[in-house]
Amino acid sequence: MTRPTQLANFSLDPAFAGQNTAVPFHGDQYTIDYICKYIEQADAFVETGTCFADTFYHIVSNFKDKTCISCEPDTNRYDLIKGLFNETDTPNATLLPVTSVETIDWIETNMPDLKEKKVVFWLDAHGEWTENGERKFSWPLKEEVSYITSNYKNYAIFIDDFFNPFNRNHKYDVYMDSIICGPEEVVDYLNGARMYHHQFDKVTSRLQPFMVGIGLITDMELLPTDNDMTLIESTGVNKYFGQDTDKIDYEQVRQSYDNMVKYSLV
Ligand SMILES: C[S@@+](CC[C@H](N)C(=O)[O-])C[C@H]1O[C@@H](n2cnc3c(N)ncnc32)[C@H](O)[C@@H]1O
Repeated sequence: MTRPTQLANFSLDPAFAGQNTAVPFHGDQYTIDYICKYIEQADAFVETGTCFADTFYHIVSNFKDKTCISCEPDTNRYDLIKGLFNETDTPNATLLPVTSVETIDWIETNMPDLKEKKVVFWLDAHGEWTENGERKFSWPLKEEVSYITSNYKNYAIFIDDFFNPFNRNHKYDVYMDSIICGPEEVVDYLNGARMYHHQFDKVTSRLQPFMVGIGLITDMELLPTDNDMTLIESTGVNKYFGQDTDKIDYEQVRQSYDNMVKYSLV
């Protein structure tokens, strides 16, 4: 990769209490290297779903010349991480205590020029969160992709936990026991952009010892991959065990998913 990046020597994630390293992008070397290569050439980084800022803190502190925006609507998580970012030490960072759809509105109002810039998105807003003591759930992936592909000009959207039909060992998310976070969910919202799957077959993370599916949607020229990672253009179709999605045995999917080690949202 073009520039080595430093890892934080702490983690605010209770699941990793006592660990002296936070893991951006699951700690996966292929993903860290490839996304950082795009950030290196971009003007801005926008993440949806900060959680414990493992990724956001890493990008903010390693790419001080880039505008970095992230959002976390969970009050407890936001309160835990907000002290990491301030005007003096991290003037390049904006952390918002709101949902990703509200963040899109915030950017539209406060940074309307961002649409003309090169922007790397890390779409990772999903799951439950607590707002004023109330449990909430959302999965704004379609809205996010649709908005970006119809409003931005130079973008690379990386989607976390994305089903990879070419590699069943890559972890992915399933919502409400039936909706697979994968190509079929977003294929209708590409607006001419191309979609790819990261292809690699080696666990490289020290703290999260599994592989995670990463989707890439971009309207820009692809940057070359390093090591033995490749990119496969997506067909836009989820295939599971060789079946079309309308024939999927969702109980089988759910059990398989439950058997995988999940990224903790404690
Ligand atoms: C998997 S974690 C994010 C991990 C983080 N991006 C990283 O790489 O370290 C998902 C987070 O998304 C948040 N979230 C859920 N729905 C959201 C929404 N609609 N907008 C923004 N964040 C959301 C959750 O509260 C949770 O903290």
